[in-house]
Amino acid sequence: EQINKGKYEHYMQKEIHEQPESLTTTMRGRLIRSGSSKPKTVLLGGLKDHLKTIRRSRRILVIGCGTSYNAALAARPILEELSGVPVTMEIASDLVDRQGPIYREDTAVFVSQSGETADTLQALEYALENGAMCVGITNTVGSAIARNTHCGVHINAGCEIGVASTKAYTSQIVVMAMLALAIGGDTISNQARRDAIIDGLYDLPNKVREVLKLDQEMKDLAQLLVAEQSLLVFGRGYNYATSLEGALKVKEVALMHSEGILAGEMKHGPLALVDENLPIVVIATRDSCFSKQQSVIQQLNARKGRLVVMCSKGDAASVSLGGSCRVIEVPQVEDCLQPVVNIVPLQLLAYHLTVLRGFNVDQPRNLAKSVTTQ
Ligand code: G6P
Repeated sequence: EQINKGKYEHYMQKEIHEQPESLTTTMRGRLIRSGSSKPKTVLLGGLKDHLKTIRRSRRILVIGCGTSYNAALAARPILEELSGVPVTMEIASDLVDRQGPIYREDTAVFVSQSGETADTLQALEYALENGAMCVGITNTVGSAIARNTHCGVHINAGCEIGVASTKAYTSQIVVMAMLALAIGGDTISNQARRDAIIDGLYDLPNKVREVLKLDQEMKDLAQLLVAEQSLLVFGRGYNYATSLEGALKVKEVALMHSEGILAGEMKHGPLALVDENLPIVVIATRDSCFSKQQSVIQQLNARKGRLVVMCSKGDAASVSLGGSCRVIEVPQVEDCLQPVVNIVPLQLLAYHLTVLRGFNVDQPRNLAKSVTTQ
């Protein structure tokens, strides 16, 4: 398969813009909405013989590195909610360093774009030795993780060339949302929620197409921030992961110091950094954490924070609260899918910052697409 940049300047740019298509491919044939009398459901062929065992697990561990870890973190709340099983997160190298306990009754889910990351592979070996049921979520058919796990799901996002992962991230979240639906089964009590998520998945490529229209707006924002030394990103709940991943993109490619911060921890340290100079992105789209984020914005405004607030369409007035913050409005989707939409403006911001700062977009210094040594 010959992959070229088409009309784009860089692979990262192309991969950001092709997300409506990559997400469609990820979901193709996996969402079932046949006939109004039948419940909507998901079909993940690679898991069907193992779902019973996974449902009976005592715990689900989700393991990855870098962007793949962040994708897993984004899906954690929905996995907990629908599976009813405790879900713990592990950065692969840390699990191996600690030799953390893993049991036969555990399901260990390995998330990796390449399927070849050395740390993740070592964690897989360790989980296999300890008898856990191992599930692989990768973008690479025939990769070591795909081969060595008991079962799995390919994300089918298409080849990703930019070192900074973008389309694989959103496809990983979608696959894990489908995994949560598959593990959850179809009890009457959660049918309305499941239907809403499945409908939301169908519509997600359109919403991503819509949010990509913010390209110029994010370029303007990048102009404004181009000479900054640092950028903070505050998120919580479903979008804690978005704050980490947004900051990781900015760090990786724009070579600007950036930190994702759990907004609930603001008063336990980060607040000391706030002044009228340091730019701060606050993610405050509509979900069960919205009023808490409004209060965070109020407190940051009271300290004259330089804010850029990401909110749901139509919410600009409810989030700026009289302060002078800049607002990015994004389409609202089902809460657990909102991270897929919210990361896109931050990917665009990181991309434009990189171009404006004159750095290598597709091959940031010192980084590799796949880290196969420890
Ligand atoms: C490297 C890449 C990242 C990626 C991470 C995990 O650090 O530069 O973009 O997120 O590895 O890679 P994986 O292939 O396991 O998802």
